[in-house]
Amino acid sequence: MFDKMKFWKNNISSSSLRERADKIQEGAVPSHVAIIMDGNGRWAKKRALPRVAGHHEGMKVVRKITRFANLLGIDTLTLYAFSTENWKRPKLEVEYLMKLPEEFLGTFLPELIEENVQVRMIGDKQLLPKHTLNAIEKAMNETKDNDGLILNFAMNYGSRAEIINAVQNVLKDIKSGIIDENQLDDELFSKYLMTCELSDPDLLIRTSGEIRLSNFMLWQLAYSEFWFTDVLWPDFTEEHLADAIEAFQNRQRRFGGV
Ligand code: IPE
Ligand code: IPE
Ligand code: MG
Repeated sequence: MFDKMKFWKNNISSSSLRERADKIQEGAVPSHVAIIMDGNGRWAKKRALPRVAGHHEGMKVVRKITRFANLLGIDTLTLYAFSTENWKRPKLEVEYLMKLPEEFLGTFLPELIEENVQVRMIGDKQLLPKHTLNAIEKAMNETKDNDGLILNFAMNYGSRAEIINAVQNVLKDIKSGIIDENQLDDELFSKYLMTCELSDPDLLIRTSGEIRLSNFMLWQLAYSEFWFTDVLWPDFTEEHLADAIEAFQNRQRRFGGV
């Protein structure tokens, strides 16, 4: 079992953060938080380092934020790690990004298992290099029975491709009589998306000052609360996540009602 007290003692020394976490838990904690982790390249540039140094630093932040999200009682954390458009980047950068899952999971998988985290992935697996996919599938396999935080990596993910794929499968199922076209509604369509087993994000965070979705969860974010920050992903801390969740707790969600 995940031991909250032990976690605090070993990982988070700041008592003010601990107090904030306790306070957050008295309110409505968002069930699904999605993050567009952006700004790694600019973080590196500011330090005259190669872009990949920013990606490496960003990986450490993934660990920190996963643990904090788990502690807060968030059910699902979706992290946008690589988009279907990111293949346009220089070959060496893409190769580095494709090695990160191995490095991250190679180092932290035992810890994720211990903390009862369940690893999942959304995105097109077919174009991923074998070594990348193997690392992710191994982690998914070894954590499939965990029932703590779902850590969902969006890897080679693009929302438009996801929607087109869903439409194609809907058409197939209509043709073969598995579903009737009159049955199709929001709920049924959602079952054809890669997120079929997940709730829609309650809160979307994007770092680095960009105010756009970059082809991320276009369907699923229809009624999510958005929170943007200028902080670059490698500089993102537990305190920033607490800021976002506190802001979320002060929002009034109406879903079209009054
Ligand atoms: C986010 O950081 C990581 C990925 C998109 C893989 P960037 O690499 O986009 O960093 P910037 O936006 O160039 O600073
Ligand atoms: C979005 O960031 C993709 C990820 C964070 C993985 P980008 O840096 O690729 O987005 P744009 O190009 O600035 O829109
Ligand atoms: Mg970027």
